[in-house]
Formats: sequence, structure tokens, C-alpha cells
Amino acid sequence: MNTDTISVGIIGCGVIAPPHIESFRSCEGVEVLAVCDPQVEKARKLADQYGIPRVAASLEELLAMDGLHAVSVCSGHAEHAAAVTRAAEADKHVLCEKPLATHGEDLDALEKLERDFPALVFEGVFQHRFDACYRFVREVVQHGHLGPLLLIDAHLSCHRSRDYYLDSDWRGRWETEGGSLLINQAIHFLDLVGWVGGGVKSVNAVTRNLAHENLIETEDTAVLSMELGSGALGSFHGSSGSHRKWSSRMHFVGTDAEIIVEDGRVASVLARSEALAGELRTGAEELEEATRLASVKSHYGPSHPRMIADFIDSIRRGRQATVPFAEARKAVDLVLAAYRSCREGRSVTLEETD
Ligand SMILES: NC(=O)c1ccc[n+]([C@@H]2O[C@H](COP(=O)([O-])OP(=O)(O)OC[C@H]3O[C@@H](n4cnc5c(N)ncnc54)[C@H](O)[C@@H]3O)[C@@H](O)[C@H]2O)c1
Repeated sequence: MNTDTISVGIIGCGVIAPPHIESFRSCEGVEVLAVCDPQVEKARKLADQYGIPRVAASLEELLAMDGLHAVSVCSGHAEHAAAVTRAAEADKHVLCEKPLATHGEDLDALEKLERDFPALVFEGVFQHRFDACYRFVREVVQHGHLGPLLLIDAHLSCHRSRDYYLDSDWRGRWETEGGSLLINQAIHFLDLVGWVGGGVKSVNAVTRNLAHENLIETEDTAVLSMELGSGALGSFHGSSGSHRKWSSRMHFVGTDAEIIVEDGRVASVLARSEALAGELRTGAEELEEATRLASVKSHYGPSHPRMIADFIDSIRRGRQATVPFAEARKAVDLVLAAYRSCREGRSVTLEETD
């Protein structure tokens, strides 16, 4: 594709749509041509707020618009697979929010789109893969600077209120959200555990609904233990019933050094020698500085703009996206395996399909 303007449509005008719109608009030569939502008043309001020229009340109406090159899927979980498929069939590049889908067979079908439509770019949103701190940690782990990796431990405390579930009724139900804490909030950190740890081979999970009883069907609290592809072990524990809005912590432990990332920043580096600790700290600071972007500030982290710039660059250069669907499905496969582990009370390997 040449450098002419790339026109984008936003599918779903809820909470996550504004960071997408702002990120697209911060890319040179990109316009948000239209927003689409069956609750058309939400689409109109967003269009007015951002001066977006067109509004669609249905996917068909959006996809029929002349000059539309790409779409961003920002609807509820159960809508993703159909929206992505129809957009691909209409010859549009597709960025899709996490999770790609809520069932294994839909994940297979979406991954197949990448083979069936090789001229299109498909990218799944995992914006934290673009956060400077996690890119730094992955690089030093891959170069062996922590020594052999032993353990990745991830923790998330967050607050999901009664209104959060009442405002959008797809949330909190197995059929429409596909789970809650794990598939919606924790999935970011589960993705990072696998990305840094060489994939996840098996998972043992216990989940509970402890703080949202009588409100949601799904889980709000979970503990997972994992065997990682690198040979290290992984763990996750978290809850969306906490009073804290959003607080994450990841601890990467090697034989020679350990890095703790808190709320997206390297909080501490501990190493066998002061020289190694100093090198790691300097590296973390340099990478953070080099990748700083003076654009959208969001409590979803700083990296939606980076991820969306990557999607646009992939379209312009005709290259594969940094997080193609084959990658973006991995954390969803892990979450589905975790739910199965919990249902069946046993460890589940990632080869077992749901
Ligand atoms: N990456 C992140 O950090 C992050 C943060 C928040 C939400 N999300 C994800 O973004 C997605 C949307 O979440 P949200 O909180 O914005 O939800 P929301 O309920 O606020 O908004 C979803 C919107 O999609 C609309 N919709 C439903 N079916 C549609 C269809 N067929 N076509 C077009 N629009 C349709 C709904 O009417 C609603 O307005 C979810 O996948 C969620 O997990 C990601």
C-alpha cells in the first residue's frame, strides 16, 4: 500500500474506543472515517466529540463505505470473531481488541484468516508488549543476563464495580464475556508471562467468584501455576474485587538477577553483583527514554499508540504485524486451558483443545 491516507473505522463505541481513535489520529496520514455501534446514539456522540465524518448503525453499513481501508474491533468479546471475519471478507485490514475470541474453534478460524487473506494485516491488541519495561525484560531474559530463568510471578489487584457490570451487560456472563478476571483483565499479564517465558506448556488453576456474588456468573479471583516453555515456572494470582483501581506487579527471577516491574515501570533490580545490577538499571532507563511517546495518556498504559502505529506501519509496508493473530491467540488458549483446569480439577496442557 502506498503512503496515501489510510481510512479507519471503529467497531464499538464504548470505553476503549477513545484510546483507539486518539492513537489512530496521532499517526501521520491516517483518518478515522467512521464509527459504528448498534447503539447508534453512542456512535453519534463519539463522532461529534472527535469530529469524525461518518456514523454507521451496523457492521454491514460500515463495511460498505467507500474508501475504508481498515477497522478496529472494540466491541464486546462475543462479537469479535464475527466482526473480524466479515471485515476480512470485505477486504479490510483488522486490529482486534483482546481477547480475539472466547472459544477455541473461533480462534482456529481467525488464525486461518491470516493464511486465507495474505494481503491483509491482522493484529491482536496486547499493548503491553510495546511497553518499554516488558520489552527490556524480554530482551535481557533472551540474552541470558538474568542467568537461566527460574520463575515469573504475576499479580494483579483491580476494582471492577457494580456499575462496570451494569453499564455493559455483556460483561460478567459466560456466554458473552467468556469469563471475567482471567479473560478480560489478567489476560494482559498472562500474555506477558508466556511472551517472556517461552510460551506456556501447562496450567493448573483455581478460580472463584468472591466479591461479585449475585452480580456476575464468572470469576473475579484466580490463582494459576504454569510450566513455561523455557523450563521455568510461572504463577499468577489476582482479583478484580480489590479496592485498588489497577495495580500490577511482575517478578522475573533468574539465577543471577531479578527484576520487579510494578505498574509498568521497573521498580527494582537485584543482582548477584553490583556491576550487573548497574548495567541492568541503565539499560532499563535508556529503553524507557528511547520509546517514550508524547501522545495519549491512558490508564490502559502508554502503549495503545505504539501498538496502533505498528498496525499502520504493517499496512504501509505490507509486512506482518508485530502481534499477528497466531500470537494474540496464545494468551486466550492459556485462559481457556485455565478454565478447563478449574472445571476438571487437574493440570491441563496447552495441546488439549477446548
Ligand atoms: N486493551 C485494553 O487495555 C482494554 C481495555 C478495556 C477494554 N478492552 C477491550 O475492548 C473491548 C470493548 O470493551 P469496552 O469496555 O469498550 O466495552 P463497552 O461495553 O464499553 O463497549 C462495547 C461497545 O460495542 C458495541 N457493540 C456491540 N456489538 C457491536 C457490533 N456488532 N458492532 C459494533 N459495535 C457493537 C456495544 O453497543 C458497545 O457500545 C473488549 O474486548 C475489552 O476486553 C481492552
